[in-house]
Amino acid sequence: MRFVHITDMHITADNQPLYGLSPRGRLQRAIDCINEEFPDIAFVMMTGDLVNRGTVDEYRALKEIVASINAPHYMLLGNHDRRTAFREVFPATPMDGNGFVQFTFDVEDKHFIGMDSLDEGKTDGLLCQQRLDWLRGRLDERKGGEIFLFLHHPPLRLAGGEALAKMIFGKVRHLFFGHLHRPMHGSWQGIPMSSQFSTLHQFVYNYTTKVMLGCHEPPTFGAVNLLNGNVVINPHHFLEESARFNLRSKAAMNAPTPEDLPTLDT
Ligand SMILES: [Fe+2]
Repeated sequence: MRFVHITDMHITADNQPLYGLSPRGRLQRAIDCINEEFPDIAFVMMTGDLVNRGTVDEYRALKEIVASINAPHYMLLGNHDRRTAFREVFPATPMDGNGFVQFTFDVEDKHFIGMDSLDEGKTDGLLCQQRLDWLRGRLDERKGGEIFLFLHHPPLRLAGGEALAKMIFGKVRHLFFGHLHRPMHGSWQGIPMSSQFSTLHQFVYNYTTKVMLGCHEPPTFGAVNLLNGNVVINPHHFLEESARFNLRSKAAMNAPTPEDLPTLDT
């Protein structure tokens, strides 16, 4: 099965631009690409910072856009989100009984868990005891099948992260997150993990400057393949429009510049 991991869309109200870009236009481009090139996916998971300021108007704008996704889609909250406004516009989104936007769902024999790492008003995330207890309950009730976990904040340096690691080690096959506006792939406490670029602005990977630098590196979403116990994640540059060419074409091989590439039908 396949699904798409998309993150940090930062949708604004009234098509307000952000850092020189259109959040709404960017998300629509991603959705158009998903609908056209990934028609067989089981679902789209959006890992937070759905909107930029957490207002009802922003969530209404988001609702209009995500309605065009031709697949089931799920949303988690990031530090730019606000639970009350989100719930007002998306009242059908499941909650965990304690007011947190946490839920589970199954596809085939696979189990997917979304967690709420939002600590309202703060940039850093939090997994409090209530949220961790809820997760423990979901893990305990699961007998067999692979488990995949989603949340907004990277687990490294996340308050409650150490307890999370102890709870999910050996049980969760992969952890998907956002927040960084950068791809980060590797393992944390022995748990495989990955993030994607934002659909909008990115953080510069440069820790020598005191300014938090943004940039316009090309956005991605993750096209995730789960097959025979494997987890394969293809970062997909959905704005990429360079020329396509036949790799076995001698004319293409010998083209001195991209402009000299033969068209595909020659
Ligand atoms: Fe973000």
